[in-house]
Amino acid sequence: MKKILALALALVMICATFCVLTSCKDKTEVNENNGETNAPAPKEKLVMATNAYFPPYEFYEGDKIVGVDAEIAQAVANYLNMDLEIKDMEFDTIITAVKEGSADFGMAGMTITEDRLKEVDFSTSYATGVQVVIVADGSPITTVDDLFADGATYKAGVQQGTTGDTYSTWDLGDERVVRYSNGSNAVMALKGGSVDCVIIDNEPAKALVAANSGLKILDTEYANEAYAICVNKENGALLEKINAAIYALTADGTIPAILDKYIAK
Ligand code: ARG
Repeated sequence: MKKILALALALVMICATFCVLTSCKDKTEVNENNGETNAPAPKEKLVMATNAYFPPYEFYEGDKIVGVDAEIAQAVANYLNMDLEIKDMEFDTIITAVKEGSADFGMAGMTITEDRLKEVDFSTSYATGVQVVIVADGSPITTVDDLFADGATYKAGVQQGTTGDTYSTWDLGDERVVRYSNGSNAVMALKGGSVDCVIIDNEPAKALVAANSGLKILDTEYANEAYAICVNKENGALLEKINAAIYALTADGTIPAILDKYIAK
C-alpha cells in the first residue's frame, strides 16, 4: 500500500514539474514573438460618437470620458473582441457622423424617435429616460402644465438637437425655446434669468441640480423615452453584433451592474 502511495505521489510530482516547465516555455515563446510575425493581429476598432456633457451617461473625469455609455460601449467592444475609440462632438452632429461613417455607432443617452429612425437604425434599448423640467427655487412654474398653459410666455432652455428641444418646440413654439450646446450652459442661462426653465433628461437633471444651488426638478414628468445605440442603416452586420452583445451583457448582469453603479434607484 505504502509503495503504491509513494509511486502515485512521485507521478503527481513529475506531472507538476512537467506542467511548470511547459508553461515557462510557453511564456518564453510569447516573449520571443513580441513584435514578430506570429504576434496576434491588431484588433478591429469601433469608433463611438458621443457628446460627453451628459452625466452620468458620458462625462469627463480628467481627460477620460467615463459614464454609463462609455462603460457599456467598452463592454460591448470587449465582447466583440474589438478596440473602442470614443469621439466627443456636439450632440446634433452624432447622427451625421454615423451616416457619413466617421463613427461606427452613436451612443449618447440617445432616445429612439420616429424622426431619427428615418436616418439611422437603433439597437435594442439598454436604458430608459424621462424628460423633466428644472426651475429655480420659488419659480411660479410648479407643474409641467403651468409651462404649457394658454397665454403662458415662459421660455425653456434646452440642449440643441435633443428630444427636449424637439418636444418643447412642438409644445411651446420656436420663439419660446432657447438652444444651448449642452445642458450645463442651459442651466447657466436659467440661473442668469434668460430662460425660465430647462428641459432635459432626468439623470443629467439630477447631476445639474446637485452641482448648482437654488434649483429644483418639478415632480411632474414631461416625456418617457428609451435610450439605444444608433448605427448606419447600411451596417446591419454591426447592428446584429451590437444587439447580440447587449443581449449577452444584460443576461450576465454586466449592463445592469453598470446602470446600478451610476444611477441611484
Ligand atoms: N435623450 C435625449 C435625446 O436623445 C438627450 C440626449 C443628450 N445626450 C448627450 N450626450 N448630450 O435627444
